[in-house]
Amino acid sequence: MTIETERLFLRPFRESDANDVFEYLAEPEVNCFASMKLHSLEEAMREMKKRMGETGFYFAVVLKENEKVIGEIEAYPESDEPRDDDGSPKDTFSPCWMLNKAYQGKGYAYEAAHAFFDYLFKEKGARRIYAYTEDYNVASQRLCEKLGMRREGLFIEFVSFVGKPDGTPIYENTYQYAVLKREWR
Ligand SMILES: CC(C)(COP(=O)(O)OP(=O)(O)OC[C@H]1O[C@@H](n2cnc3c(N)ncnc32)[C@H](O)[C@@H]1OP(=O)(O)O)[C@@H](O)C(=O)NCCC(=O)NCCS
Repeated sequence: MTIETERLFLRPFRESDANDVFEYLAEPEVNCFASMKLHSLEEAMREMKKRMGETGFYFAVVLKENEKVIGEIEAYPESDEPRDDDGSPKDTFSPCWMLNKAYQGKGYAYEAAHAFFDYLFKEKGARRIYAYTEDYNVASQRLCEKLGMRREGLFIEFVSFVGKPDGTPIYENTYQYAVLKREWR
């Protein structure tokens, strides 16, 4: 599956994407992606092999002009909360998005996320798309707002992705944003 926009392709990962992905995952910018950190090109190549089978919900964001992978976007179907695996429809999605720092501030994240939301709502049965973002992550909040997502709440000390040197967890305050299919333009 490939999604095409004016300047981008969203397509499944390939083994040859390792270099480009290592460029932005050698030092993940935000704590929520700390566990995705890649320590070497070899690790990036192994990671690409794992991702290659993911064809419907996990996409490389690729610049049309030179075929460079400049980031990624993904979301898998979930049931609405608090139901989990009780047979309820999996019509809820929570996207993760990340761009190489060198390609931020050019509207690519919005272009990719808008096309991805359109695909989830129109082709993948999405009813509700929600996003979590740290209270200090203004770029991600701005992206949610540009996508027409509603700010639904702020969860205080909601989650911890990293700890202090002494092992004490560092908790993040997290905003939740969401948009429904019936609200999607
Ligand atoms: C969150 C993230 C993906 C947002 O990316 P981004 O590049 O800032 O987002 P956009 O694509 O919307 O671009 C933003 C700016 O590009 C500019 N822009 C928009 N369209 C443009 C175009 N067609 N041409 C040139 N510039 C454009 C605008 O200045 C826009 O800002 P504004 O709309 O607020 O004025 C990025 O900051 C990132 O990867 N962060 C690290 C990972 C992360 O935090 N992920 C989320 C965890 S919750």
